[in-house]
Amino acid sequence: MVQSSNAAGAKTPDFHIDPEAYDRMYAQSVNDPATFWGEHGKRLDWIKPYTRVKNTSFAYDDVSIKWFEDGTLNVAANCVDRHLATRGDQTAIIWEPDSPDEEALHISYKELHSQVSKMANVLKSMGVGKGDRVVIYLPMIPEAAYSMLACARIGAIHSIVFAGFSPDALGARVNGCDAKVVITADHAPRGGRATKLKDNVNQALLHDVDDVKCLVVKRTGGQIAWREGLDFWWHEEAAKVSADCPPEEMNAEDPLFILYTSGSTGQPKGVVHTSGGYLAYAAMTHEYIFDYHEGDIYWCTADVGWVTGHSYIVYGPLANGATTVMFEGVPTYPDAGRFWQVCEKHKVTQFYTAPTAIRALMGKGIGPVEGSDLSSLRLLGSVGEPINPEAWNWYNENVGKGKCPIVDTWWQTETGGILITPLPGVTKPKPGSATKPFFGVTPVILDDQGNELSGATEGVLCIKDSWPGQMRTVWGDHARFVSTYFEMFKGYYFTGDGCRRDEDGDYWITGRVDDVINVSGHRMGTAEVESALVAHATVSEAAVVGYPHDIKGQGIYCYVTLMDGVEATDELRTELANWVRTEIGPIAKPDVIQWAPGLPKTRSGKIMRRILRKIAENDYDSLGDTSTLADPSVVEELISNRAALA
Ligand code: PRX
Repeated sequence: MVQSSNAAGAKTPDFHIDPEAYDRMYAQSVNDPATFWGEHGKRLDWIKPYTRVKNTSFAYDDVSIKWFEDGTLNVAANCVDRHLATRGDQTAIIWEPDSPDEEALHISYKELHSQVSKMANVLKSMGVGKGDRVVIYLPMIPEAAYSMLACARIGAIHSIVFAGFSPDALGARVNGCDAKVVITADHAPRGGRATKLKDNVNQALLHDVDDVKCLVVKRTGGQIAWREGLDFWWHEEAAKVSADCPPEEMNAEDPLFILYTSGSTGQPKGVVHTSGGYLAYAAMTHEYIFDYHEGDIYWCTADVGWVTGHSYIVYGPLANGATTVMFEGVPTYPDAGRFWQVCEKHKVTQFYTAPTAIRALMGKGIGPVEGSDLSSLRLLGSVGEPINPEAWNWYNENVGKGKCPIVDTWWQTETGGILITPLPGVTKPKPGSATKPFFGVTPVILDDQGNELSGATEGVLCIKDSWPGQMRTVWGDHARFVSTYFEMFKGYYFTGDGCRRDEDGDYWITGRVDDVINVSGHRMGTAEVESALVAHATVSEAAVVGYPHDIKGQGIYCYVTLMDGVEATDELRTELANWVRTEIGPIAKPDVIQWAPGLPKTRSGKIMRRILRKIAENDYDSLGDTSTLADPSVVEELISNRAALA
């Protein structure tokens, strides 16, 4: 066994595995997945144990994914109840508020049990039952975790909408899954400012369906508009119900949650995850990848509005009986030392964040890092986008003091949990590489024709066989699930990412190969931004691409063609950027808007995005063949407009 140590030199636990164990376990996991997962599925408490472990097919005409299909369990009981006997008084959730002047909360497993059960009873009293959908639109407060687990307890399916999304985006998601109830808060404090969440819900529901009930958490006491008969205060309802709510017996393949995510075309899709396989995978990856041990204080800085928050703030850690930190704020409020102050305050042992945050903090120098005692840290993690070696080195030297393993974890909303990652105690660090597959994961690199490439190579990343945490379908549209992920490369799950494999067999993710961009680790379909732009009365056509951005990784670059007679002014540019912000949310606000009298199109009318990406990158030497364009002169014009912008 390999020993790890932290910066203070304190004796720390052994890593769970060593290189020999990894090789042995990996080989079994891919050669005999049923035996491997049959064994590891036992980490959960089952009401009725499964006898069938794996029943999956990636065949294009018969895509079907089932794990542990005849087993029954309850996810909330696995995350809460089963810990009561051994760790009822242990802290389950440490809640750190937006402002350091407000007191942090330590919520024990016992308290969590009582709150989740009450929330479950309140939802029942509002008419929510097994299989019904509940939308959660909350800030990062403990009630977000209570809501998720309360749904799981009664077999309702939750769909979390990030609190930074606009009323329109919220409305589309409420209607998309036909939700019975929305759980929200009055206001959401973040970075010293407050978003009026309940007002957003009112607007969203007024647009679409106006009979959706709303359960409102009082976070700030700020003023809100109340819909009599439809709105209920959480604290008032909680006082009326018992703290006893028996968990519902659920099939392993019953849906646990829906999470909307952007694709390359059309509206965001509702990714569906189910109960047994998802939880087993989230829990196991959490334990092995983050080297989780009894007594650790684990902190993932994500928001529960994204999949990272689902799997690695709530479900994985709580299934393991961990203490998980929930942070309401942002890395730079009230100053750029906040992350490190919180690490010191709560003696955090594992810290998991996104490269965009690291880059933003790097820009503030090492002063804010040195101001805090980080000796409790034992492991660092990164997620959401490729981490550039400069940021990796800064993280390693200044935060990890050269002594913490760094896990650069590659995965997606669709994968439910981490698929490619270094493992502490096993993997030699390689800045910028996600390195090797987790157990049961079979990555392959294909060429454009779908041939598997061997050895050191580059191409598109696909996965050859199913793993328990895989999404099962797109909510209400199984055909879209099949066409998005299984059509282009028959027999494989297509990730949408490009990838290089080096001579050591390590994987390097090179970014999306489709029209999805990654802005500050948030995934965005360029089509969504385009449809928001063309919804403005002045815009005739729009094309959106990503371009390299120092902090965000990728920025949003928009080419806009105006309606005849509309004047292209700076004021209009600002108006359009704000318009997109209001239509989708602050994360979608364009960084650059360039006026485009025409867009480069093929004779069949297809926009040549390759050319637009090159122009946005200021890379005019490799524009490629433009002779097939319907009007090649458009390109010259765009280049000269680009120069005027710079
Ligand atoms: O392009 C990859 C990138 O983020 C995409 C998935 O985004 P989302 O579903 O929002 O989930 C983000 C958090 C799991 C991937 O297709 N990505 C995620 N992690 C990494 C990454 N790219 C490179 N390295 C990573 N570690």
